[in-house]
Amino acid sequence: MVKKERPKFPDSYIGDQAIEYDTSKWMERNQRITTNRCLELLFDSNLGVFPDFNNNELLLLDLGCGTGFSTEILLEEGFNVISIDILSDMIYLLHKKKLENFNLILADIRNLPIRENKIDHIISVSSFNFIYEDILDNNEKNKILQQTVKIFKEVLNNNGRVILEFYPETEVDIKLLMKYFKLADFNGFLVQDNPGLRKEQNFLILEKEEN
Ligand SMILES: C[S@@+](CC[C@H](N)C(=O)[O-])C[C@H]1O[C@@H](n2cnc3c(N)ncnc32)[C@H](O)[C@@H]1O
Repeated sequence: MVKKERPKFPDSYIGDQAIEYDTSKWMERNQRITTNRCLELLFDSNLGVFPDFNNNELLLLDLGCGTGFSTEILLEEGFNVISIDILSDMIYLLHKKKLENFNLILADIRNLPIRENKIDHIISVSSFNFIYEDILDNNEKNKILQQTVKIFKEVLNNNGRVILEFYPETEVDIKLLMKYFKLADFNGFLVQDNPGLRKEQNFLILEKEEN
């Protein structure tokens, strides 16, 4: 696994830094490519083939939506979307874009204000690691991961899928996450694009088993 310099949370996403993030063409391009890759993996047949559907029949959660690079793609593809972020500076910039047909919520990934069995699939681009990476106490970290996975399970429909593109610090992070998803009856696997290279990306692909 390649060690990369990681953005600081929340400093990299507040005030002028939020504006810089939103106006960076490089960032926009990367996040759009990554979101498209998440969509490709969402319907990966290794987890089973979906019955025919139209995108406008599905409700997706975009977790850690930031200023909306990922949300924009999901809307362009015709999905119904609820976008969630914890920082008002990021969400405000997305709100100002006046995109249509989606809901924007200021909330924490660890405590989603969403009703049970409401969501078809969850996508999270470059955000998930922020929910635990500053927590040094292992018990606390385990508690947060376990609780977050439990909430994902509650809000998802049967066969709902989760695609997490994130920056795991170590292999242990990935193993720990897989452990909690498996304990909560998710199936899944890791996809690593460009392993060992600077542009390495990690995607966890999970599906909630039918009750
Ligand atoms: C690198 S940005 C990614 C934004 C967006 N997904 C994109 O593709 O451009 C990471 C985002 O995760 C959000 N974030 C970090 N911790 C969070 C949490 N606990 N709950 C919700 N959002 C969080 C940050 O506020 C920031 O907007």
